[in-house]
Amino acid sequence: MRLDKYISDALQLSRAQARQRIAKGTVSVNGQVCRQADRQITDADTVQAGGGQLDRQQFVYIMLNKPQGVVSASTDRRDTTVVDLVAGEFPRRQLFPAGRLDKTSTGFVLLTDDGAFAHRILSPRRHVEKEYLVTLDTPLTPEMCQGFAQGVTLADGQKLAPARAEPVEGEPLQARVTLTQGVYHQIKRMFGVYGAGVDGLHRLRMGGLWLDDSLAPGAWRQLSAAEFALLEEKGAAERVKKG
Ligand code: URA
Repeated sequence: MRLDKYISDALQLSRAQARQRIAKGTVSVNGQVCRQADRQITDADTVQAGGGQLDRQQFVYIMLNKPQGVVSASTDRRDTTVVDLVAGEFPRRQLFPAGRLDKTSTGFVLLTDDGAFAHRILSPRRHVEKEYLVTLDTPLTPEMCQGFAQGVTLADGQKLAPARAEPVEGEPLQARVTLTQGVYHQIKRMFGVYGAGVDGLHRLRMGGLWLDDSLAPGAWRQLSAAEFALLEEKGAAERVKKG
């Protein structure tokens, strides 16, 4: 992130106040005074202000728009992983995806090194919703919507928690699906019970936080404190739905 943002976050200053400190020459990066407010600071940099070293963030939380073909893992022998897409900026962090998307799926992946937090938002007991835009190979039916609401029983006998499948106006082959649990290939298997195939799956939301639709596939950014707090909301925050 930019040096002025880093200083304003770390010292709880406005962006203008942070720029003044930088202009005065009281901020050093890796031991050298830096007067460049737009200097990019990565996790590998050490920043000092007013003589003291600023605390490196304890944990990082990153929103990534996963492209197709990238795997939801930290490392993989063959394929590019979601962590590979950000690793250059976080060489010393043990990042992992909090919740997986299939290789062919796209959209919101949360990357973090905070294991306890990831566990909290993924635990089905917490009822934190994840919402997807799904493209089907056959139109969505009321039977599917009712079945999802009651809790689908998968082909292997596993009974799932109630979920929501909602139609998308003017798009009979699309559905908005909202889950509170994360079973392997869950949405594909749920539609499979009704003989429907999934041609596309894009995660739009985790908890109360929507994927920033200005992030192109493969793009990412760290979350603000306000966005981070939204992740633990059970349902969608008030906002016009996008996607
Ligand atoms: N359900 C699936 O089937 N695939 C995903 O990637 C996410 C949910």
